[in-house]
Amino acid sequence: MPIINDPHLFNEQSLFVDLEGVLGRRLYLKIEGFNFAGSIKLKPAREMVEQAERTGLVGPGSVLVESSSGNLGVALSMIAASKGYHFVCVIDPRCNPATAQLMEALGAQVDLVTEPHPVDGFLGARLNHVRELCASDDRYVWLNQYSNPGNWGAHYRWTAPEIAAQFPDLDVLFVGAGTTGTLMGCARYFREHRPDVRIVAVDAVGSVSFGGPPATRLIPGLGMSVRPPQLDESLIDDVVFVEEVDTVRACHRLAAGGYLLGGSTGTVVHGAMTWLEAHQARDITAVTISPDMGRPYLDTIYQPDWVLDHFGADAAANAASTADRDLLSDPGSRPQLPAAAPRTDSAALRSISQ
Ligand SMILES: Cc1ncc(COP(=O)(O)O)c(C=O)c1O
Repeated sequence: MPIINDPHLFNEQSLFVDLEGVLGRRLYLKIEGFNFAGSIKLKPAREMVEQAERTGLVGPGSVLVESSSGNLGVALSMIAASKGYHFVCVIDPRCNPATAQLMEALGAQVDLVTEPHPVDGFLGARLNHVRELCASDDRYVWLNQYSNPGNWGAHYRWTAPEIAAQFPDLDVLFVGAGTTGTLMGCARYFREHRPDVRIVAVDAVGSVSFGGPPATRLIPGLGMSVRPPQLDESLIDDVVFVEEVDTVRACHRLAAGGYLLGGSTGTVVHGAMTWLEAHQARDITAVTISPDMGRPYLDTIYQPDWVLDHFGADAAANAASTADRDLLSDPGSRPQLPAAAPRTDSAALRSISQ
């Protein structure tokens, strides 16, 4: 094992789980939660801070500030602590309490925005708070994950090449869409290096990223209440929308197989399985990405009362629905992936996920 002298220097980047034993269908899951920050957000956090240091934007006395649903905040808390910067993280009530505690334990100041912006939701309210902080003191530096090229650049530099190296025969890559940093970094890399690989975005129902109507969402990580500035839809082939109840069911299904993973992992796994089923794509190499582990979700997704309150008794039964079980273990024929990769329109895509 390596010996490190900075927490961000350790990151397990080559671990993939073959989910066939759990789901009854081959789907490889890239695990990104094994590092000191506990999530994929270590990569963009490191890239954005190091770029800002190189350009002189950040230096001694700087106060980093960022709006985060949690994971980027934890990663920045860790990096700021290790490098000696102050850090203020602006969160909203969807942030897991355990995640906020983690940031505080790492020395960050956590500002909770309690009222959503009337049009732009909680994200709009968080960004307004960040702007107010920056206007109040010029030591504040907003890394701005929503438009910072270091966000997608980190995945272009690390995540996508890691997947490409492991799967020379990759057919489809499913990527969850939050800020779309992961999605855009992977899409750019594969468009340039392996244009035959299909890139399918997975988003939460209620997110407006791909033009859908806004709706309340409870699970952090994926989905946006304003359109992500980094998103370039011309780089992706398809979009799948996933209801939060299906996210919860998929998480429970994975946990029943011994894999306790985060909410967005349930979303991308359900989205990938739905897409593969709709395209009758069995004998292909498909990969998706697990951004974090399940422990921070013990009070929500893995808490029966929380699930009962928000999604009803069926979901709380802690098992996939019959429909899911059929979907996940269908031993049907193995037709090849269709050759053409037209971008499916949103209405049709929404019907795929329902
Ligand atoms: C758990 C989790 N999943 C997915 C994402 C989405 O990643 P991206 O912002 O690169 O789209 C995030 C982003 O914070 C996350 O925390």
